[in-house]
Amino acid sequence: MTAVLFIHGFPFDHLMWRHQLAALTRWRCIAPDLPGAGTSRGSKSADEFSMGSYADDLIARLDGLQVGPAVVCGLSMGGYIVFEFLRRFPERVRAAILLNTKAAADTPEAKRGRDALAATAQHRGVQAVADELLPKVLARATLERQPAVVREVTEMILRQPVTGIVGALRALRDRPDSTPLLGQIRIPVLVVAGDDDQITPAAGMEEMARAIPGAQFTVIPGSGHLSPLEQPQAVNAALNAFLGQL
Ligand code: MLT
Repeated sequence: MTAVLFIHGFPFDHLMWRHQLAALTRWRCIAPDLPGAGTSRGSKSADEFSMGSYADDLIARLDGLQVGPAVVCGLSMGGYIVFEFLRRFPERVRAAILLNTKAAADTPEAKRGRDALAATAQHRGVQAVADELLPKVLARATLERQPAVVREVTEMILRQPVTGIVGALRALRDRPDSTPLLGQIRIPVLVVAGDDDQITPAAGMEEMARAIPGAQFTVIPGSGHLSPLEQPQAVNAALNAFLGQL
């Protein structure tokens, strides 16, 4: 049975994939919490987090489960970790699914924003992080018409530990540019965008998909940055169709 590794985004945990885990029963779905997220506290200090250390942790988990090459599916920060897999562990990636993500590194302004958000988390707590991020991660339609999703995402952010948030922000700030990698990818790739994603807009994702030889690209209507929770049926259909072709 093909294994699919789901890698969540920031500042979320594996439950952002709960609809996919319930629906994609034809595959062996593996959806861990990254170190410092959800229930995976770890003993790390905030300075020890990087895309490389997240990837190392996931490879160790796959080793522990005796999983060889897997389909690696990441959303946003999870996508940055997929790029890390492709750079360092290409033999472990049978195919890749990139949702609501981008290849470019942070601009100097974005890096300053990471430090400012880390200071917010440390001095004002996780509620202030949720207040700042919520309007950015969800589509306007979700904010207006899906109160249960708004509540679920708020609660998910609120349960993340501050050390993990600050560590992830350092990892995000210092991540490498993955743009040079795109043209070298030789495995099947699906790129999934949200039509109202303010963080990784669909136009930029389409451009990224065009740079990956043979990549498939789809846009999820009525979705912001959290397509698996905002429009689960459409995302499940896209994932099912892609996985079914492998
Ligand atoms: C995420 O969802 O993982 C974040 O939006 C990533 C980012 O801020 O670059």
